[in-house]
Formats: sequence, structure tokens, C-alpha cells
Amino acid sequence: MDVEKAILKRRSVRSYKEKKIPQEKLEEIINFGKMAPSANNRQDWKFILITDEKKKEEIYKDAKKQSFIKEASAIIAGITTNPEDKMTCGIPAGIVDLSIALDHISLKAAEEGLGTCWIGAFHQEKAKNTLEIPENHKIVALMTIGYPKHSLSEKEKQRKNLKEIISYNTFSE
Ligand SMILES: Cc1cc2nc3c(=O)[nH]c(=O)nc-3n(C[C@H](O)[C@H](O)[C@H](O)COP(=O)(O)O)c2cc1C
Repeated sequence: MDVEKAILKRRSVRSYKEKKIPQEKLEEIINFGKMAPSANNRQDWKFILITDEKKKEEIYKDAKKQSFIKEASAIIAGITTNPEDKMTCGIPAGIVDLSIALDHISLKAAEEGLGTCWIGAFHQEKAKNTLEIPENHKIVALMTIGYPKHSLSEKEKQRKNLKEIISYNTFSE
């Protein structure tokens, strides 16, 4: 599958089969996340693969009890180990780096026919406590991953028109 197909097929999957993703497959997908660029190539990131049913239940509670979280084969926690590090532009590098890595993960998963869903609706401190993450780190996002109940297809996406979001040379409303 080419990049274009993976981009078009990826969508938020909130319904998963019970089938488990083998550990080697999960690690192969994370390996593609690791290929993402990062500011100064610092790679100040860690990925926790949550596969244990008890831990999944705890994370489900930390993430507003979104029911599909428990259905997923695994939950990936994308962690920046250096949340205070800002780039010259003033934007925290860790948030950008982890977002790119997790996007690579979601696209590689789509290529493999797997479904993912970003989760930003979670309680930072509770989830850190559940996963025993050091105080000075931050979870940038959680991501469910699993075999989708309905296989991925290139469905039309609800997106703004290109004209609404681009301008040339200077900002325009
Ligand atoms: C940073 C981020 C956080 C998100 N958090 C949640 C979430 O907590 N729960 C959820 O069901 N979907 C969540 N989503 C999924 C978005 O709702 C979804 O990406 C958007 O509606 C576009 O749909 P699509 O992913 O199918 O293209 C999140 C997406 C992003 C990028």
C-alpha cells in the first residue's frame, strides 16, 4: 500500500474485534513510529504498550470511560520525557515529536489493516499514576489499536475545503 492509500484509509476506529495483535506486530508498528523526525533528533520519547486487561480497565477509567478503549487489543501511550523543552519558535518539541510518531504509527497500522483512535480525553495525572510514569514526563496522547470490526475503506472524510485553510504569502481569513 502506498502512503496515499494509508492516509485515505486511516480513520478513527471505535469498534474492535476480540482478536489480539501479536507482540511482534505491535513492536514492528512502533518501530515505524520511531522513524519519525524529532527536533534535533532528540527522540525524547517512550511508548508504553498497554495489553494487560486490568491496566486497560484502569486506563478506560482514566479516559472518561470511552467504551472502545477496553475493546482494543492494545493502547499505546505516547510519552515525552522532556515536556519543558521548547523549540526556538516557542512550541514544545515533545508534543510535536510525539504527534508525528503517533501519526506514523496510525498510518503503518492502517497499512496493516489495523484500526487506531487517538485519545486526548484522558486525565493526565491519573493516567500517569496508572502507568507509573515519572513526574517530569507527560503523556502526549493515548492511541487504541486493534483489528477493526468493519474493515478499513477509503471513505470520504469530513474536512474543510482547501480554499478555507490555505493562503499564499500572508495570512487571510
Ligand atoms: C489529538 C486528538 C485527540 C483525540 N481524542 C479523541 C478522544 O478522546 N476520543 C475519541 O473518540 N476520538 C478522539 N480523537 C479522534 C477525532 O475525533 C477524529 O480524528 C476526528 O473526528 C476525525 O475523524 P477521523 O480520525 O475518522 O478522520 C482525537 C483525535 C486527535 C487528533
